[in-house]
Amino acid sequence: MMLEDLLEQYPKTALLKDGRAVILRPLQPTDERAFHQFFCEIPETERLLFKHRVTDPEVIRDWCQNVNYHRILPLLALDETRILADASLHQSLGGWKRHIGRISVVVHPAARGLGLAKTMVRELIEVAQNIGLEHLEAEFMGEQLAARHVFGKLGFTELLVLKDYVKDMQAIPHDYVLMGRRLITDEEFAAAN
Ligand SMILES: CC(C)(COP(=O)(O)OP(=O)(O)OC[C@H]1O[C@@H](n2cnc3c(N)ncnc32)[C@H](O)[C@@H]1OP(=O)(O)O)[C@@H](O)C(=O)NCCC(=O)NCCS
Repeated sequence: MMLEDLLEQYPKTALLKDGRAVILRPLQPTDERAFHQFFCEIPETERLLFKHRVTDPEVIRDWCQNVNYHRILPLLALDETRILADASLHQSLGGWKRHIGRISVVVHPAARGLGLAKTMVRELIEVAQNIGLEHLEAEFMGEQLAARHVFGKLGFTELLVLKDYVKDMQAIPHDYVLMGRRLITDEEFAAAN
């Protein structure tokens, strides 16, 4: 299925465990200010472990002004006033990893424990499945236990752990954890049904 066709399902509503409704839709260039605000409200202890310096307005501007959903599909969850979560599906668009997607997720502290990370990652797993990807990966620093737990619940297993392999924003080394799961292909689905 074409990504463009799949994106036509958005915006759509998802329900949190407390009954609140949130809107799910891809990031748009006009989200720049709210997206920067979202990352500024993530605790610094967690941000130190992120791959990118997300409090730098230039980083966020680049992400918002150069959206290419084929390369990176950032899916947002929003309530009436703010962004509550961001989950992204990254693709290589060629090369030996062209059949492998990578997913990451961040949920605002005020919206945690309500099933939002699970909902969003599930949503992107479905997108990945429908556009024909065969594997998904997710990368972590060893300390990101909550996130590793969420992905574990969604069928991801640890593929490898490299001791003190990556460095945080303060150049402190941490274990690198690669998790992954296989996606069933259309042919396998057809054979099983
Ligand atoms: C990890 C994170 C995304 C979880 O978001 P969330 O919306 O609170 O997670 P959910 O409510 O969907 O929880 C999913 C499952 O994980 C469990 N879980 C969530 N946080 C947990 C924690 N801190 N410790 C243990 N389990 C946890 C939940 O109990 C739930 O399990 P269940 O299905 O058995 O009920 C969020 O804490 C976060 O944004 N952390 C910082 C960002 C980060 O580290 N991202 C990793 C890069 S990919």
